[in-house]
Amino acid sequence: MAAEIIPLDLSRFFEHHPTLETERLLLRPHAMADADDLFEAFRDPETVRYGPHEPARTIRDAEAMIEIVAKNFELQKTIRFGFELKSEHKTIGWCDLHHIAPEHHRLELGYSLSPRYCGKGYMTEAVREIICFALEDMGFHRIEASCDPRNVKSIRVAERCGMMHEATFRENEICKGEWVSNAIYAILRG
Ligand SMILES: CC(C)(COP(=O)(O)OP(=O)(O)OC[C@H]1O[C@@H](n2cnc3c(N)ncnc32)[C@H](O)[C@@H]1OP(=O)(O)O)[C@@H](O)C(=O)NCCC(=O)NCCS
Repeated sequence: MAAEIIPLDLSRFFEHHPTLETERLLLRPHAMADADDLFEAFRDPETVRYGPHEPARTIRDAEAMIEIVAKNFELQKTIRFGFELKSEHKTIGWCDLHHIAPEHHRLELGYSLSPRYCGKGYMTEAVREIICFALEDMGFHRIEASCDPRNVKSIRVAERCGMMHEATFRENEICKGEWVSNAIYAILRG
């Protein structure tokens, strides 16, 4: 029998920004006071190596990012969980829920961590919690992540969080003047 198509009602998640917690992290919306921490993370070329953005040059770039993220939440386009490291009260990364398609019960994840805090399991810890929230609380059926196949660390996070490689779209986009492929990872509910 065909599945009944009822678009997800996400209104309550956009009325009040959700906050989650893991053992070491508070997953919460950014505040303007996070700009220093975000600048520290995103001035490092390593952070943006596999994405379309250039490294942040001034604190104003970090502030502008916080404003854009807040606007995209207002427009119901993106939910960003900033990661506050509980032991240091410091913002060390983020995970976005974006490309949200309520009619298909599907969304995409994007994530980034300050290089100083890599290699400690923080991203895996956060993404596992966020996937659980998106599937169980928000009711999504499918969560995708698109990784540059050269970005082995990102692929390892996706795999550790239960996402499966489904396809690689070869030379699918032009990023920073070169052809880039997209490795598609996904997890389904249930
Ligand atoms: C992708 C990215 C988030 C991966 O970061 P990461 O630190 O490797 O991922 P985690 O925080 O989950 O840490 C996992 C590593 O910590 C290790 N680790 C150390 N202590 C740990 C602990 N207490 N618990 C769990 N893992 C621990 C794990 O063994 C693992 O290392 P391995 O992959 O060599 O086996 C990071 O490289 C990044 O932000 N890159 C720039 C942005 C980017 O490319 N984003 C992805 C776009 S699709």
